[in-house]
Amino acid sequence: MTAVPAAEPLLRVRGLKVHFPIKRGILIDRTVGHVRAVDGVDLSIDRGTTYGLVGESGCGKSTLGRAVLRLTEPTEGEVVFDGTDVAGLKGEDLRHMRRRMQMVFQDPLGSLDPRQTVESLLSEPLRAHGLGDGTAGIAARIRELLDAVGLPVASLRRYPHEFSGGQRQRIGIARALTLEPDLLIADEPVSALDVSVQAQVINLLEELQDRLGLTYLVIAHDLAVVRHISDVVGVMYLGSLVEQAPADELYEEPLHPYTRALMSAVPVPDPVVEERRERILLAGDLPSPANPPSGCRFHTRCPWRQETRCDTEVPVLRELAPGRLVSCHWAEEIRDGVLRPKSPEEVAATQGVSVAATGAENPESDALVQGIDAPIERT
Ligand SMILES: Nc1ncnc2c1ncn2[C@@H]1O[C@H](COP(=O)(O)OP(=O)(O)OP(=O)(O)O)[C@@H](O)[C@H]1O
Ligand code: SF4
Ligand SMILES: [Mg+2]
Repeated sequence: MTAVPAAEPLLRVRGLKVHFPIKRGILIDRTVGHVRAVDGVDLSIDRGTTYGLVGESGCGKSTLGRAVLRLTEPTEGEVVFDGTDVAGLKGEDLRHMRRRMQMVFQDPLGSLDPRQTVESLLSEPLRAHGLGDGTAGIAARIRELLDAVGLPVASLRRYPHEFSGGQRQRIGIARALTLEPDLLIADEPVSALDVSVQAQVINLLEELQDRLGLTYLVIAHDLAVVRHISDVVGVMYLGSLVEQAPADELYEEPLHPYTRALMSAVPVPDPVVEERRERILLAGDLPSPANPPSGCRFHTRCPWRQETRCDTEVPVLRELAPGRLVSCHWAEEIRDGVLRPKSPEEVAATQGVSVAATGAENPESDALVQGIDAPIERT
């Protein structure tokens, strides 16, 4: 195998599409359409860094993560991991590649077999791959893993249900680490946990990254979680990336109208700034990924939508400044204040939807931005 230059990203995704067929019919299944869960995503993750992926429920985050691991077969596109195109791998090669990419799930209780002790949960992957150097070697490796995630040795004989949510997620992380992966895909790793425990688990992930040189793709609907752990953040809307930027810059100056709307919904602790804060409300609900809007997919809700281009031309993700990618035809004019946003009533009127269905009343939108300015406390 050719050596991969160190500067090459660990993961490179190009034009990734995952379309699920919609079947109808009583006797014969007919495909009547497709859910475009992921619809042309490009992203790269450098070694030892964290890419945070955010977006509303149903925008395709989990499907993207699963497609990278080939747990879901991509419809189109390329997933290059450490210089190898994962799509072409079969049998033993695919198994070997999967060892190097592991997943941490939202619900550790659901992803850990309740009938197995922690000892058996952690030793199983080692035995399955013929690793660990015999029984004594496996025992030593398991203790090392428990120590790394901050659990006592006494945990070994216990079952997942005997632990708290935070401890269970530590077991989930330890299990993901058994095979010494390079990439961890963490899908909503802390959404099921109390806020105080969330901070501990995020800190643990950061510590492990520093110690083991891990690379992360962290998927979350909570912008606060992603902000504090990510080097780069990607914002997804209806199967595509609409903006990508270094985490601090994205939060300081969001450029895409969708990101701006999300950020504007966040309360600011300073009462004077809070008083002046302009809240950008979104009209209408999230359209169906089975029937996405033409042109810019965000045009049905966008307060900056223009008469030309927005409804007809798909915007490409382009570089507006170094490291800052945005898919909006009018990004420069919006950034420079040349174009002003319309009110939700005006947007709703042009789209023929009710103002009552604005993002402000949409609990999902609020969930997405919840806690953004209440940084996770370090312990
Ligand atoms: N196996 C499947 N078959 C058909 N449609 C699917 C399948 N898996 C996901 N979808 C659809 O694809 C779209 C994207 O789903 P996905 O689970 O990736 O979203 P998500 O961003 O992870 O959402 P959430 O924040 O709720 O987890 C949704 O419309 C979903 O209903
Ligand atoms: S391209 Fe048009 S509709 Fe899309 S985000 Fe930009 S201004 Fe809004
Ligand atoms: Mg998901």
